Amino acid sequence: MFGKTDVSAPLFVVAALVCFLIGGLMTTVVPPLVDASWSRPFKNDDPSKGPTGVLRPYTEIELKGRAIYVREGCWYCHTQQTRTILADTVRSGWRGVNAPISTPDEFVYDSPHLFGTKRTGPDLSHVGGKYDVQWHRTHFRNPRDLVPGSVMPPFPWIANNEPEFQALVAYIQTLGRAKDWRPDHDYEQ
Ligand code: HEC
Repeated sequence: MFGKTDVSAPLFVVAALVCFLIGGLMTTVVPPLVDASWSRPFKNDDPSKGPTGVLRPYTEIELKGRAIYVREGCWYCHTQQTRTILADTVRSGWRGVNAPISTPDEFVYDSPHLFGTKRTGPDLSHVGGKYDVQWHRTHFRNPRDLVPGSVMPPFPWIANNEPEFQALVAYIQTLGRAKDWRPDHDYEQ
């Protein structure tokens, strides 16, 4: 049957569209139907894996920080997904412990999601809690004071604007906090 698509342009177009439709359905519509955990917030029932409970929605200040993250284009350079490859879990890890792989249930309150595609800077999916407020302030003021050779631009208008700075840091400290995996747990915010 598909041999005919070699000689018939209309048939080729129709066959291509049908294949595209099947591909689209199988990768977007079918998976959440098969696995409902995709749309449920992350839940921990096992006390040995950190505090039990369900992932909470963002607070008002965290949402404000998220909006600043979007406005400043942090996502041009930073992704927010620890992929299923070892290098990612090592890079997102902390003090010799690899980070868990990102799962959809961690992102149910993210709209739009900020997974990103370009990794000019490191992935931020597990950066929450790694650095304290003072570190972030110095880093936003001038990243090269902390990381010589960093290509991250300075954001002095955030570092010097207390409400915006507090909101952005509050948001950053939530990243990757659904799963309590860090050996030393977290800094106080
Ligand atoms: C031009 C690309 C670029 C942009 C835009 C950018 N960053 Fe970065 N960022 C980097 C690079 C490169 C690094 C690694 C070097 C460093 O730590 O400064 C980094 C590091 C970081 C780190 C430390 C990550 C770690 O695991 O050590 C954080 C947190 C961060 N950026 C947050 C932000 C936020 C928030 C914004 C938006 C206000 C932003 N970045 C905008 C490139 C960028």
